[in-house]
Amino acid sequence: MITPALTPAELQLAGRGTPRLLRCRVLQSPLAGVSDRIFRGLVRRWAPDALLFTEMVNATSLELGHGLQKVEELALEQGPIGVQLFDYRPAAMADAARRAEAAGAFLIDINMGCPVKKIAKKGGGSGLIRDPELAARIVNSVAAAVSIPVTVKTRLGWCGHDLDPVSWCRQLEDAGAQLLTLHGRTREQGFKGHADWEAIAAVKQALAIPVIANGDVNSAADALRCLAATKADGVMVGRGSMGAPWLVGQIDAALSGRPVPEAPGALERIALAREQLLALVEAKGEHGLLIARKHMGWTCSGFTGAPQLRHALMRAPTPADALALLDRASGELSHQG
Ligand SMILES: Cc1cc2nc3c(=O)[nH]c(=O)nc-3n(C[C@H](O)[C@H](O)[C@H](O)COP(=O)(O)O)c2cc1C
Repeated sequence: MITPALTPAELQLAGRGTPRLLRCRVLQSPLAGVSDRIFRGLVRRWAPDALLFTEMVNATSLELGHGLQKVEELALEQGPIGVQLFDYRPAAMADAARRAEAAGAFLIDINMGCPVKKIAKKGGGSGLIRDPELAARIVNSVAAAVSIPVTVKTRLGWCGHDLDPVSWCRQLEDAGAQLLTLHGRTREQGFKGHADWEAIAAVKQALAIPVIANGDVNSAADALRCLAATKADGVMVGRGSMGAPWLVGQIDAALSGRPVPEAPGALERIALAREQLLALVEAKGEHGLLIARKHMGWTCSGFTGAPQLRHALMRAPTPADALALLDRASGELSHQG
C-alpha cells in the first residue's frame, strides 16, 4: 500500500490497528477539573482538527462504573479525542483502555506526570517515574489490549538530581509508547519555574517516536519558539488555554501558515462565559455553577470592568444571579461601545 506523503502539519501515529493521522501539530492538554466535554466543545470551535484530551480518568473508576460518563460522552463529540488514564496496576489499565477504545477514544494516553501526592504515593501519575520497570509493564499491557495508538505524558524526572530524561523516555519508547508528550519540568517543580525546552530537545533527538513539547506555550509566538528550540513534532498547550479556548486554534493557524484569528473581545468573552455557564448548569445542575465560576473568572478578563465583574460572579449565589451579572455587564459594554 502506498502511504500518501504527509503535509508539514500532519503527524502519523502507529497503533496495532490502522495508523491514525493527526492533522494538527498543537494539542490541548488534559486538565483535571477543566477539560470536560463543554470546554472541549469550545476549543473545538477554533481547532477542528486538534487532538484534545479528556481530564485524567482513574482506571478503577471505569471498572466501578462511576467514571464511565467521562468516556461515554465522547460519542457526542467531533474530532480526535484521547482518553487519558492513570493507575499503577497494569491489568486495570489494560481493562480501562479497552473500555475507552470501545467508547470511541482516538488514542489512549497514560498519565506519568501527575504530581498529586495521593496519586504518586500509590505509584500512579508521576510515581511511575520512580518505577520505570512498572511503567514499562503498564505501557506494554495497554498497548497489547487496544489497537488504537498508546501514548505517554510525562515529566523530565522526579527531581533535579539524578535526572536522566533521555533514558527514562527511551524506556517508554522501548515499552511500546507510540508518542510521548514531555512536560519540561520535574515532579518536584510541580508547575513552578520555567519549562526546560533544552531537555525536551535532547529527548526529541534521542527518540524515534514523535515527541510533543509541553510547558510554557501560551501564545502562537511561544509555540513557534518552542518548536524551533526543541525540534519537537508538536506542542501541547495547558494553562494558557484556561479561559482562552481559542488559543489552540490560534496556534494551529500560525503553525499552518494561515491568518491567526483574533482573540475574542469583551462582548464575545462574556457571551462565551454565558454559554459555558448555561451548558454546565444543564449538565450538572446547581453544581455546574461552581465549575463555571472558575471558567468565568478566567474568561472575563482583559476589558474595562472585568475585575468587578469577576468579583461579583464569584459571589453569585445561583446560576440566575450569575446570568444577570453577565447580561448587565454585556449591556453596559454595548452602551459604551
Ligand atoms: C488545573 C490543571 C489540571 C491538570 N490536569 C492534568 C491531567 O489531568 N493530566 C495531565 O497529564 N496533566 C494535567 N495537568 C498538567 C498540564 O496538562 C500541563 O502538562 C502543565 O500544565 C504544563 O503545561 P503548561 O505550562 O502549558 O500549563 C494539569 C495542569 C493544571 C494546571
